[in-house]
Amino acid sequence: MRAAWYERTGPAREVIVVGEMPTPSPGPGEVLVRLATSGVNPSDWKARGGSRPMLAPRIIPHSDGAGTIEAVGDGVDAARIGGRVWIWNGQWQRALGTAADYIALPAAQAVPLPAGTSFQEGACLGIPALTAWRAVQVDGGVAGQRVLVAGGAGAVGHYAIQMAKLMGAAQVIATVSSPGKAAHAKAAGADAVIDYKTQDVAAAVKELTGGQGVDRVVEVDLAANAALLPQIVARGGLCTCYGSGKPEMALPFFPLILSGVAIRFFIVYDLPAEARAEGLATLTRWMEAGALRHAIGAVMPLEDCAEAHDLVARGEVMGNVVLDCASSL
Ligand SMILES: NC(=O)c1ccc[n+]([C@@H]2O[C@H](COP(=O)([O-])OP(=O)(O)OC[C@H]3O[C@@H](n4cnc5c(N)ncnc54)[C@H](OP(=O)(O)O)[C@@H]3O)[C@@H](O)[C@H]2O)c1
Repeated sequence: MRAAWYERTGPAREVIVVGEMPTPSPGPGEVLVRLATSGVNPSDWKARGGSRPMLAPRIIPHSDGAGTIEAVGDGVDAARIGGRVWIWNGQWQRALGTAADYIALPAAQAVPLPAGTSFQEGACLGIPALTAWRAVQVDGGVAGQRVLVAGGAGAVGHYAIQMAKLMGAAQVIATVSSPGKAAHAKAAGADAVIDYKTQDVAAAVKELTGGQGVDRVVEVDLAANAALLPQIVARGGLCTCYGSGKPEMALPFFPLILSGVAIRFFIVYDLPAEARAEGLATLTRWMEAGALRHAIGAVMPLEDCAEAHDLVARGEVMGNVVLDCASSL
């Protein structure tokens, strides 16, 4: 099969190789998926850059993807063959991810893809959509609440706005950094947007919430925004944090303790099993109802894997970067 891989960490163009390697076989409890797409996320370029240790001498990157089940291993119902699926955790604690023609992985990690959802859209679900769902759902959800989605035009943020609305938030505010991103966040359902580069975010949140603050902040960059929390969160509110622009940060202790805000950190790769099951069921229900808008920012051939990593790392694309595994140069 064709695959993109690296055998040492480093700059994308120096370490990513595209070539031929043996097609994997599904082991017991596994399915073999013929991949149509492979989704590229920030954690993929970070891991390739050395943020986590190499699990094996050769890594095929990317956890997200979508395709069709071509074979099943012992113990898996043969009726799954031919089924359209999307993948989660394809390269989490596993060496061989989705940047390839095929992946063999546990059957539960290949989830039926509803008929109205494309393979490109299916490659945005494992990390961006599930992260957004968890950020909005964890610790009691957002029904009736005021929510601020930081970075509302990001891959995760764009889903988080929609999901907060779908889960009954009373008000969804998003921060953005340009008029184009403001339009993107509004199209996702944001009631109001704040340009965090040109506006005073704390003052704008106060004004938009009648001085109350928000009940929940969905945070993309805690290092940059932690100091804002005491000014924008209602008493006893919550910040669900899925990202940080820096590996370490300073926190303003006294303002935070006085505000009573809770900060909930989580990583989508390691959701509790019960939450994972609820998330998969909820995404399926929303997709079947046509309730989710997906944002595909760029589609590139598998051969351009290194360029795709650099594109995601530069943060220039609004929406997900997806590799088309079915095409070739
Ligand atoms: N915990 C998890 O499981 C998990 C899961 C998925 C992603 N992540 C992490 O979350 C981050 C975002 O991922 P993504 O795929 O959504 O990336 P993305 O598509 O690049 O989106 C990030 C968004 O955040 C905005 N942003 C950056 N700095 C900001 C700030 N200080 N305040 C407000 N907005 C800001 C960016 O736009 P501007 O730069 O123009 O403002 C962009 O719209 C990455 O660090 C990723 O590693 C974590």
